[in-house]
Formats: sequence, structure tokens, C-alpha cells
Amino acid sequence: MASIIMVHTEHTARLDSRPAAHPRRPACLPLRLPAVESMSLHQAIRACHESLNLQTMTIDYLKKILTSRVYDVAHETPLDLAPTLSKRYQNQIYFKREDMQDVFSFKVRGAYNKMANLSDAQLKRGVICASAGNHAQGVALSASKLGCRALIVMPTTTPPLKIESVRARGGPNVEIVLHGDSYTDAFNHAQLLEKEQKLTFVHPFDDPDVIAGQGTIAMEILRQHSGPIHAIFVAIGGGGLISGVAAYVKQLRPDIKIIGVQTMDSDAMARSLKAGERVTLPDVGLFSDGTAVRLVGQETFRLAQQFVDEVIIVDTDAICAAIKDVFTDTRSILEPAGALAVAGAKAYIERAELTKNPVKNETLVTIACGANMNFDRLRFVAERAELGESREAVFAVSMPEQRGSFKRFCGLVGPRNVTEFNYRISDQDTAHVFVGVQISDRGESGSVARKFEENGFRTLDLTHDELAKSHLRHLVGGKSALAKDEILYRFEFPERPGALMRFLDSMAPNWNISLCHYRSQGGDVGRILIGLQVPPEEMDEFARFLATLGYRYWDESQNPVYKLFL
Ligand SMILES: Cc1ncc(COP(=O)(O)O)c(C=O)c1O
Repeated sequence: MASIIMVHTEHTARLDSRPAAHPRRPACLPLRLPAVESMSLHQAIRACHESLNLQTMTIDYLKKILTSRVYDVAHETPLDLAPTLSKRYQNQIYFKREDMQDVFSFKVRGAYNKMANLSDAQLKRGVICASAGNHAQGVALSASKLGCRALIVMPTTTPPLKIESVRARGGPNVEIVLHGDSYTDAFNHAQLLEKEQKLTFVHPFDDPDVIAGQGTIAMEILRQHSGPIHAIFVAIGGGGLISGVAAYVKQLRPDIKIIGVQTMDSDAMARSLKAGERVTLPDVGLFSDGTAVRLVGQETFRLAQQFVDEVIIVDTDAICAAIKDVFTDTRSILEPAGALAVAGAKAYIERAELTKNPVKNETLVTIACGANMNFDRLRFVAERAELGESREAVFAVSMPEQRGSFKRFCGLVGPRNVTEFNYRISDQDTAHVFVGVQISDRGESGSVARKFEENGFRTLDLTHDELAKSHLRHLVGGKSALAKDEILYRFEFPERPGALMRFLDSMAPNWNISLCHYRSQGGDVGRILIGLQVPPEEMDEFARFLATLGYRYWDESQNPVYKLFL
């Protein structure tokens, strides 16, 4: 189950007693005025006004959001009801479809609003940003729309696909500079170039114009759904998106909870809110790369402190499951950061279910904020989605190395689908099998394990064991001194419920199975590797057995890879 950390903020405490629509005025900061030499008088006054406002913390975000200029490049995206997820979780769950923007994320809103508010002189000199992802695409598209030069600094490790899509969005307006190994390297270099070339820095989150641009999402949500809303769930990286959304919603509908969602390994905002000051993480996880931020913004932290009700933390498996949920309802695939809000909403409902106040028949809005998914991640996502949903349980089962014990074990698995079966002979007395089975709810792995145990099969439930899920499942096996007279065959059989067990059953009439590797791939055929101990004098009989088996097969006994590793 996804673990949850609740971080209550000042705002939650206030909401408990009396909703407060306006932020409190915190202590003043030392004042700094912006460089105004290249601006018109009007722009200089506006810039000074904004700078003063920011520093005395009185920015009117409601006005800023209502007057944001985003629709030159952004679409008003649909607010779609997710019928399947809603039914499963007995609430009305909506997806705000920011994955449908031309750049496949909301980021273009903030970037464009920032850039469209620059002076002609600033636009003429150009802008700069550091980003390896969605922000870069937003800046590139905005630059091409506004006809201004944009320098985009990306780490050298950025995948070519992302570099190409930034280039495609920006066309001749965009120059890409590859620098350093990490985002921080790229960011530092961008700051250097900003000064050298007198460019304007377009920050990915910590800028009132960027925050206001992202806040237009909230404006659309409240317009699109005028009825009651229990909560809006928002992914947090640096905090620009949630700050904009929260600042708008809490002014107009303070009864709506604003709930942030972060990953376990990139939870800078949750930690900062808990500590009451910004906390820098030593490093961040990269699975949800859109939200991998070590230090949240100054302004975004201030707004989150005032307006965000709580932050929920979810794990990678829960994100993968949420990607699958969104796919089920929309046939669209979100990137991990894009599905965070959905994972958070599910965790929120599940947590409430354990209390006396379950959340039922409420309206929950989740911001599906991005779909820039690397195609090569899909295999991992599909694999982990089942675990995140608790649809697959994995076990290490020990069974006596004697005839009949495997059949007995199959009987206990019953009609459940076997998703994985790995075995290598290693012990004369006991066989250790890594087995995955499909389950229907999260409590079931424990009861399946108990059933195995009660019937004499020592069992370890590995469903929540990261080492087992990521590595050991692929490492079961190796060379064995006990695999005398072993031959190795690959088989294919039609993939359908119960087919694996039937296949394994038909395999062992006379000969000992010394190796077995099977993983359900969701394809039309199941592919399985089997080692059998067949003495040379029984090979004719084995050939006759193969001929009657009725499955496609390949003899891999002479494969050099087999000789090397098994
Ligand atoms: C898809 C996606 N979701 C969420 C975020 C986090 O936004 P913020 O940094 O404003 O919190 C980002 C940031 O780039 C993103 O690309």
C-alpha cells in the first residue's frame, strides 16, 4: 500500500476554525529593486510595483491569474470524469487534462505568461532557462510564438528525444546549450549566461508570473465545475503549479482542500512544510523526473505554507498503478509526474477508508499534468502497475524435492493466474520457487501465503520487498552441480488462464524439471524456458514425448549462452 505522510499546514489549522480567504502578512524582507534601465516608464513602474509586492508579500494572485496571458499558446483543457476509477473508489474523480496541451504538459502556461509580460527590450535581448524537460518545451514554444530568442541550457545527459522536441517547438528561435551532467550544472551555467548576455531568466517555478500562469488551471476548474468540490490534488516539484492553483482556489472557494502529492524520493515540499523552512534534499529520485526538485522555491514555499492543506506521499508502484488507471479511463498515457495527483487521490480515499470518516460520493479533481513519457519506460510501468494496484503478489516458496509436491502446490494456487514462475534446482531436498500470482485485493497476499504455509510449503511474502521485485526475480538460477543430464528447451503455449500450470503439469511425466523460467508478458503466447534431466538412454522416449505434446518448442541445449550462465 502506498505510504502516506500528512503534512498539515497553517492553513489546515485555520480552516478547522474559520475559513480565511486572505493570506496573512508575514514579516518584511529587505527590499531589492529590479534593473529597470532598459524598460519604458510604464514597464519600470509595473516591475518595481511587482517587486515591492513580492517582497512585502502582497501580490494579488487572483488578479494576476485572471489577467494572465496564456491562451495564445495554451488550450482550455477538458475536465473529464473518470468513470471506471470513480466507480471503483465510490467518488466522482475528475482528470484535468493538461496532458492535452500542445507540449503535453501545463508548463507552457507559466512560461508564456512570464515571457508575454516582458518588455520589448527584454524580449529583444532574449530569454534563458535551464531545464531537461517540460519547462524547456514551454519556453521554446513561447519563444517561437513571441518571436524572441531563447537559450535553453540542458544537461548533457538529456535524452536526444527531448532535445529534438525542444528544437521542434522553438524552431530557429531556440538555441540549445548542452552543459554539465546534472540539472544543477545546467542551472549554474544558465545563470552565468544570463549575466553575460543580459538575458531574462525564465524560472521553472519560483516566479509570480510563472505561478500565475499555472494558476489559470484553477480558474478553468472552478468554471468547469460549479458544484461542490471536496479536494483538488496537485503534483509538486518546485511548487509553481500548486502555488498558482491554491492561491486562486483559496481566494474564491476556501472550502476546497488543496492537496499536494510528492514521491517518497522527491519530497522537498513535504519536508519543508514540516520543518517550517525550505529544506534541501541531498539527492532526488528520477522516476518522476518532472517533480525531481531538491529545493522548492521561496515564493512557492510561502504560498504553500499559507494555502496548501496537506501533502500526500506516494511510491513508484502507486504512480505506475495510477498511470494504468488513467489509461483505463482515457486510453492516454501520462508520464509519472503527470499521474502523481491521481495516485495521491487514491491514497487519500484509501486512508480515509481506514478511519471513521470514509470519503464517499465526493468530487475529487486530479490534475493530469503531463504526458511526456519515455516510451522505453512503459515496460517498467506495466510491470509495476500490477504491484501498485496490489493485483500481483510475489512469493518465495520452498517445497520438498519429491514427486507430487509441485502438483500439490498447483492445486493451492487454484484458478488464480500465475504471473511468474522461476525455479532452478539447487538443493537435493528442497526446491525454492519464485512465484507471482494475480490477486484481487491488497489483503490477499497474506492469506495466499498463509494457505501455502498451512499446507507445508514454507513461504516468504515478497510483495513489498524491493530487492525481490527489482532484482532477485531476474536472478533466480545460475549454474547447478545437481543438474546432471540436463537438456534445455524453450516452449510457447497459448496464453490463457490456467495454461501455465497445465503446461508444467504435462511437462513432468517422467523427468525431473531442473530449471523453469516464465514471466507473463501479456502477449498471445506464453514463453517458457524449461530444463529437464533426461538420461541419454531415454532421449528417444523424450523425442516421442515432444512429438505428442502439441506445443512449439526449440532445443537450446547447445546454445553457448546456456553453457556460459546456466
Ligand atoms: C508533468 C509535471 N508535473 C508536475 C511538475 C511540477 O511542477 P512544479 O515544479 O511547478 O511544482 C512538473 C514540472 O516540471 C511537470 O513537468
